[in-house]
Amino acid sequence: MILSIETSCDDSSIAVTNIKTKRLLFHRKISQELEHSSFGGVVPELASRLHLIHLPQLLKEAIPYLNTLRAVAVTNRPGLSVTLLEGIAMAKTLALSKHIPLIAVNHLKGHIYSLFINRDTIFPLLVLLISGGHTQIIRVESYSRMEILATSLDDSVGESFDKVAKMMGLGYPGGPIIEQLAKDGDENRFDFPIPLRNSKQIAFSLSGLKNAVRVQIKELIDRQPDGLTKQDIADISASFQKAVKLHLLQKTKKIFKYETKIRDFAIVGGASANLYIRDAFENLCREFNKRLHTAELEYCSDNAGMVGRYAIDAFNRKDFIDPYKIDIVSNRKIETNSWL
Ligand code: KG4
Ligand code: ZN
Repeated sequence: MILSIETSCDDSSIAVTNIKTKRLLFHRKISQELEHSSFGGVVPELASRLHLIHLPQLLKEAIPYLNTLRAVAVTNRPGLSVTLLEGIAMAKTLALSKHIPLIAVNHLKGHIYSLFINRDTIFPLLVLLISGGHTQIIRVESYSRMEILATSLDDSVGESFDKVAKMMGLGYPGGPIIEQLAKDGDENRFDFPIPLRNSKQIAFSLSGLKNAVRVQIKELIDRQPDGLTKQDIADISASFQKAVKLHLLQKTKKIFKYETKIRDFAIVGGASANLYIRDAFENLCREFNKRLHTAELEYCSDNAGMVGRYAIDAFNRKDFIDPYKIDIVSNRKIETNSWL
């Protein structure tokens, strides 16, 4: 078995995976959404202190598996430095005390491997990663051969949902809240700009759209003495979500036009739980004769199951790290192919 730990942001999670069968045997997660909600985003210091409390609680539940472990895996990049350190401290201690190897896992590769929990890998594969920290399209040839084909110039998809929700005082995380509210909204009421629509550049950008939403909200508030109505909030959510969808579709389409050989396409990361976006990609894949893959909803957001699944492939390749040398890489530094 491999015990895996994930603490790159505000989810404490521990999993145990069987190396031979690739089955996830134990999987627990404690999220901190409530604690961060009033701040409209994750407060790193608070997240770190909560990991300190939650991780030992989760490890206690995994005690029955501890004598069967062949390796320990932990996310070490990218993420919030103060939260990554919590997971690493526990993983290092376990590896050293039990004399078993340590595996360092790139969180973004972990998201890709969320597709393969309880199953075999599918390669080659084109992946759209939409999380709270990243928006990327990656060509995945194999465990060790990946190339970023498009990346974000500013805010990520998840981040833009979080910020738009914050502007309307809706709480955190914004993604599921906006998706839910959008169901009762008119997505054509506000004509928000589709980012980079007239640009040939194959990249993602959401800060312009976010600002357009901000300006619209201000205009409504200035005009209406009682502020935003319920319907305004639903319509803004729907119109914003539509613009994000069209942006993602437009840029992915450009890549589909030249990546014709790879038939399999996947969406991963926290925002891939968005069913409105999934539906749109199902249609796009039909048009381009691609097979769409998504992770089960519970494995879209951060979890140790995906870390454990990646670790099986790392274990079989003896891709280990010296516990005395493991380091972290914080957010934003991993935008280029250097992380592959
Ligand atoms: O992958 P993830 O759990 O953490 C990072 O690696 O960043 O992604 C979290 C992000 C948050 O920004 C959250 O608002 C977004 O995923 N998210 C969604 C949805 N569910 C979560 N965004 C849009 N629609 C959703 N249904
Ligand atoms: Zn993530």
